[in-house]
Amino acid sequence: MMSKTAVAALLGLFGTAFAQTYTNCNPTEKTCPPDKGLSSRTYSVDFTKGASSDWNATSCSDRIAYSSAGAAFTVKEHGDSPTIESKFYIFFGSISVIMKAAPGTGIVSSAVLESDDLDEVDWEWIGGSANEVQTNYFGKGNTTVYNRGKTIPLDSSTQATARNYTIDWTPKAITWYVDGSAVRTLAYADALGGQNYPQTPMTIRLGIWAGGDSSEPKGTIEWAGGVTDYGAGPFTMYVERVDITNYNPGSSYTYSGTSGDWTSIKIDGSASDSSSSSSSASVSATSTTSTQATKSSSMNNKDLSTPKVGVSTGSTSGTSGNSSSTDSSATSSTKGSSPSTTIHVTNAAPVSMSPINAGLWVIGVLLASMSYL
Ligand SMILES: *[C@@H]1O[C@H](CO)[C@@H](O)[C@H](O)[C@H]1NC(C)=O
Ligand SMILES: *[C@@H]1O[C@H](CO)[C@@H](O)[C@H](O)[C@H]1NC(C)=O
Ligand SMILES: *[C@@H]1O[C@H](CO)[C@@H](O)[C@H](O)[C@H]1NC(C)=O
Ligand SMILES: *[C@@H]1O[C@H](CO)[C@@H](O)[C@H](O)[C@H]1NC(C)=O
Repeated sequence: MMSKTAVAALLGLFGTAFAQTYTNCNPTEKTCPPDKGLSSRTYSVDFTKGASSDWNATSCSDRIAYSSAGAAFTVKEHGDSPTIESKFYIFFGSISVIMKAAPGTGIVSSAVLESDDLDEVDWEWIGGSANEVQTNYFGKGNTTVYNRGKTIPLDSSTQATARNYTIDWTPKAITWYVDGSAVRTLAYADALGGQNYPQTPMTIRLGIWAGGDSSEPKGTIEWAGGVTDYGAGPFTMYVERVDITNYNPGSSYTYSGTSGDWTSIKIDGSASDSSSSSSSASVSATSTTSTQATKSSSMNNKDLSTPKVGVSTGSTSGTSGNSSSTDSSATSSTKGSSPSTTIHVTNAAPVSMSPINAGLWVIGVLLASMSYL
């Protein structure tokens, strides 16, 4: 049995990762309320002009400030993980974050797309490594293999000036761009035949945390580049603006069934039926009017429902996730291995996972533990 203090301590320990990768209701497990959609096709927010009511501070709002430099997210002391989240979801689209990453050993700046069933697409910047950015993804909260991350070396600093980090996300592929150059593409089929492919409506979460906090697990601290010295801080990440194109605008998105497949998402109040204001008609995601999706209209249901073949399900070696030819980095010098964290809690076998998702697993442990309180 765990004491309430122990639970609180665990929450404190992993609260940072948890701050960005939580879900309030997982539609692959139960029926959830519809997601509020972004009903316009394009959306921009300029944080150099101040805060926006379209975004919610979900953690440490007192460490978020707005000025002509943009939204400033600051880690000053243990436990700081200021984060904002869009109040709306988008369903495939392009997301450009114009931002300056924070310096500081062990400091992690992040821009994350996260869905209700824990599909995730990430940018992460390690404070001690100014000339690189990490990319990562997860499908349906699957953290059983930890080689999905890729570090992209860059020729100049991510901390000196604001740069443009764009994710173009379609049912066919995800491409990460830095200042207009594609640095990585992940094809649907290369994410375990689509099973691990992020494909459900996402919010955008921007924030910073100290992976190098001395209370973090050893693996997290190593991944984050070492122990954070708060005396050298405060450490601040600045987001100037976010520009979004929502390829499937809608007033709401609803999961039909528990598959978590993008084809199961119903779009209400989409542009094409907005003339009938009270329409509850749903538009299939396949009828998207998105240029992007149309452009790649060889992408269709048939393509996407191709039987999943060649998947080695038995491997637990951590190498089964193949970095296939289409999941390539434009930079050949990309560092090979992804960050991984080894976490030892209770009597469970050591679990290696992405730090940003470590929280999810811990929550499972917590929920199990809490039933004994
Ligand atoms: C904003 O975040 C808080 C947690 O800090 C949460 O309780 C609240 O429901 C969120 N509001 C919206 C509109 O998402
Ligand atoms: C950011 O990059 C994207 C894609 O490369 C581009 O379409 C967009 O115009 C850029 N945004 C800014 C503000 O430069
Ligand atoms: C999770 O991903 C791994 C490899 O990427 C795969 O072997 C496993 O079957 C997946 N689990 C589920 C439940 O999809
Ligand atoms: C990885 O993919 C490449 C190219 O598709 C293939 O040649 C190689 O055998 C694969 N490796 C593993 C471990 O599956």
